Amino acid sequence: MPTPTDYIRRHIRTVPDWPSPGVQFRDITPLLSNPRVFRVLIDQFVHRYFDAHPTAIAGLDARGFIIGSVLAYELGVGFIPIRKKGKLPFTTVEESYELEYGSATVEMHTDAVKPGDRVVLIDDLIATGGTLMAGAKLLERLGAEVIEGAVIVDLPELGGSAKVRASGLPLFTLVEFD
Ligand code: PRP
Ligand code: HPA
Repeated sequence: MPTPTDYIRRHIRTVPDWPSPGVQFRDITPLLSNPRVFRVLIDQFVHRYFDAHPTAIAGLDARGFIIGSVLAYELGVGFIPIRKKGKLPFTTVEESYELEYGSATVEMHTDAVKPGDRVVLIDDLIATGGTLMAGAKLLERLGAEVIEGAVIVDLPELGGSAKVRASGLPLFTLVEFD
């Protein structure tokens, strides 16, 4: 019997040279389309956070929405979308971060969390860590405690997971790829 993490790892597809030459893209869609592995995946997060009693799950646009919303449903708490700039209709707070070329901005509604809330922040993957750190800053700016960041895939060579942990934010990663 493979361990749950081996089982999950085997269902992540590597697409060479996408979106640009030299990139090995780690594609999680096979994890989602197989109902057994999707359940094993979600259960990893449910078991990890059940006893932590988060008050909400926040997910990062767009693949963090898929896992984060199911996790929120399973834990019986609300889901908070942290979106790319320009998508949320109500008043927002925003954080920008550097990309290899240029910058990106994420936003969250100002009423999404309040002081005292305890939130798990979910995404599919951490590369440079910019997206996850920006999401955590938004939650903290509105007074929430980020219990932990959590992703399926860590690309440790890109340095993001080390940067997040060095910032003091706990981070849970299920599988690593070079
Ligand atoms: C990918 C991934 C993470 C982020 C990780 O999303 O899903 O959100 O990049 O990169 P980082 O650690 O270097 O910030 P992408 O921006 O491609 O958006 P998408 O989910 O809408 O495809
Ligand atoms: N897969 C998915 N998202 C990503 C990747 C990847 O390999 N690298 C940076 N963002």
